Amino acid sequence: MASSANSACVLVFLLLHLLFASKTFSAMHSHSSIHHPHRHHHTPINSRLHQAYIALQAWKQVIYSDPFNFTSNWFGLSVCNYTGVYCAPSLDDPKVQVVAGIDLNFANIAGFLPDELGLLTDLALIHLNSNRFCGILPMTLQNLTLLYELDISNNRFVGPFPSVVLSLPTLYYLDLRFNEFEGPLPPQLFAKTYDAIFVNNNLFTSVIPPNLGKGRASVVVFANNKFGGCLPPSIANFAETLQELLLINTSLSGCLPPEVGFLYKLRVLDVSNNNIVGPIPYSIAGLAHLEQLNLAHNMMTGLVAEGICSLPNLANFTLSYNYFCEEERICQNLTSKAIVFDDRWNCLPEKPQQRSKKECSAVLEHPVDCFEHPCGGGSGSSGGFVAAAMPATAPAFAPASHS
Ligand SMILES: *[C@@H]1O[C@H](CO)[C@@H](O)[C@H](O)[C@H]1NC(C)=O
Ligand SMILES: *[C@@H]1O[C@H](CO)[C@@H](O)[C@H](O)[C@H]1NC(C)=O
Ligand SMILES: *[C@@H]1O[C@H](CO)[C@@H](O)[C@H](O)[C@H]1NC(C)=O
Ligand SMILES: *[C@@H]1O[C@H](CO)[C@@H](O)[C@H](O)[C@H]1NC(C)=O
Ligand SMILES: *[C@@H]1O[C@H](CO)[C@@H](O)[C@H](O)[C@H]1NC(C)=O
Ligand SMILES: *[C@@H]1O[C@H](CO)[C@@H](O)[C@H](O)[C@H]1NC(C)=O
Repeated sequence: MASSANSACVLVFLLLHLLFASKTFSAMHSHSSIHHPHRHHHTPINSRLHQAYIALQAWKQVIYSDPFNFTSNWFGLSVCNYTGVYCAPSLDDPKVQVVAGIDLNFANIAGFLPDELGLLTDLALIHLNSNRFCGILPMTLQNLTLLYELDISNNRFVGPFPSVVLSLPTLYYLDLRFNEFEGPLPPQLFAKTYDAIFVNNNLFTSVIPPNLGKGRASVVVFANNKFGGCLPPSIANFAETLQELLLINTSLSGCLPPEVGFLYKLRVLDVSNNNIVGPIPYSIAGLAHLEQLNLAHNMMTGLVAEGICSLPNLANFTLSYNYFCEEERICQNLTSKAIVFDDRWNCLPEKPQQRSKKECSAVLEHPVDCFEHPCGGGSGSSGGFVAAAMPATAPAFAPASHS
């Protein structure tokens, strides 16, 4: 049941992409003077397009600036001809055209999202990237039960996490980045089957919930928020899917849990610009797909182990601005293997551009015990080589690109 609904969505999704392409072509070859506004009133339209007409007209009422004239042809009943509005055959009746997509990316429109958007019940995707929409997401969006992609990134939305998105049963791609949402992320967010979760560059605060659900995401980007707290060991619940984990500048503290090494599909791990202490969990040496590892600008200590430096796909390993005090042999010569390596501003005795002795001893005199630390993996179970024991045949599946 759920999976057939999913494949239906994928279908709509592909269909829309085709449609987008063909519409672009026809737009290139048609001339706007073909429009005869008076004729619109005689075009028979179905009730769902009529609902869409009401919604889009209500929207136009609360658009106060549209510098590129995206909405200047939003009049008349032919909503399928509006710029940025895409129609497709309905899922339940292929003979009925419905509004299946809204794409106003880079329109720089200023305005609000009105309650009437709840009338666009056939929408599969909403792309509003790079506009000046403000206010909050209306609760009526819970009506959009077919919505698959929601990208409202780079706008001026405010308020708490827009919990209405949690009620959307088929949402797959959620992009809230570069807005002004604040407060905690709801724990339910992590139990959703989204493929991508982008919440970076907001004002979210609370710690990452300790009991992360069994996520399905391949990309999780939390960067540039004020989470605080630690990366919880339950991050391991994303092991089956997670390929990119970006936690840059999220006020994380504590030790990295060894469970990071369970994320055996990981290609990118970036925890830079936090307050992370303690050593690099050795379990990371099992991440056979890891290409980018960025630990820079933390307070990490201890040894940089050979197992990590000899990861088979490592391309860029940045550990500058920490307090590491030893590198095993292979690590000292990574650049000869064409790996980008930056170990400046640590406490490495034989290396140039390191911290002063005084600075180092101030930190190294107080060793961190990750097992005593609340978030340091105090369970006593060491991450060890579990990751290496997991199947190493991850498909080379890149996350969908979104324009
Ligand atoms: C938008 O329309 C207005 C009024 O018709 C016109 O002055 C302006 O140049 C148009 N802007 C763009 C970017 O086409
Ligand atoms: C949409 O515009 C095209 C020409 O650009 C026209 O041929 C077509 O009839 C219009 N559709 C509707 C439903 O009015
Ligand atoms: C939700 O959709 C139904 C049609 O499916 C419509 O009748 C109703 O008014 C919508 N609710 C809102 C709040 O827009
Ligand atoms: C770090 O995140 C904060 C928000 O929590 C932001 O104000 C700051 O600009 C970010 N720093 C960098 C270097 O991006
Ligand atoms: C290596 O990673 C660091 C940190 O993410 C980045 O600043 C740098 O540009 C990367 N270098 C290359 C050549 O990719
Ligand atoms: C680094 O590796 C290269 C080739 O793998 C080797 O020729 C060179 O002597 C090594 N340098 C050090 C300092 O180990």
